[in-house]
Amino acid sequence: MWAEKLGKQLGHPTRSVAGWLVSKMLTVRNRVLEENAVQLCGIQPGDTVLELGHGPGLGLQSAAKLVTGPTGHLIGVDYSEYMHQMAREQMKELVASGKVTLHHCDVAAMPLADSTVDKVFHCNCYYFWPDLRKGAAEIRRVMKPGGLMVTTLKLSSVATFAAKRVLPAANWRPESYMEALIDSGFTDVRMEDKLFKHIVFQAIYATALK
Ligand SMILES: C[S@@+](CC[C@H](N)C(=O)[O-])C[C@H]1O[C@@H](n2cnc3c(N)ncnc32)[C@H](O)[C@@H]1O
Repeated sequence: MWAEKLGKQLGHPTRSVAGWLVSKMLTVRNRVLEENAVQLCGIQPGDTVLELGHGPGLGLQSAAKLVTGPTGHLIGVDYSEYMHQMAREQMKELVASGKVTLHHCDVAAMPLADSTVDKVFHCNCYYFWPDLRKGAAEIRRVMKPGGLMVTTLKLSSVATFAAKRVLPAANWRPESYMEALIDSGFTDVRMEDKLFKHIVFQAIYATALK
């Protein structure tokens, strides 16, 4: 019962006691995943960088320190109104300056022009998409040719245990997402095990072929 409730809130946090607890959990437990995804992307100062399912906004805040060039721009999308507002509040100065743009929308339908994004990252997010191929195709659509996408995940954690209770098994497997990426026209799709300060996690890489 508690695992299902937690799993639902992880997939779409709402403004509620459970949603607030999940936002605290994400902030404390997922910093390593978010910060490593940012590092693994190889962000350059002038890049346009996109985070999918940003949650409270830890990864966006970390990436904002790297997107320092005059053309550098950071975009975040999340379909939870609560997470969208929380990230907006956390980064109000960056949003006001135009360095960061946040969209309250679904990954499968982003209000972004074709071939405009250099780097994409996301953490603990793809499992919740109802259609992995639709999500992967939309990511590729907005990416520039040769752009890099990195996703980080932890295959063993309390959160993943809870999320698995509410998700179809096919969505959960990294292989399903990697197949969707290949079918949507990504190349060099691979997964690596990573170790950071005694924490084991996985990183999936994919390059947009166009
Ligand atoms: C488990 S949380 C992870 C948040 C953050 N990336 C982290 O690791 O702490 C998943 C996030 O993805 C968002 N999300 C899930 N499916 C989405 C979709 N189809 N479109 C946009 N956002 C989505 C949820 O609203 C939630 O904020």
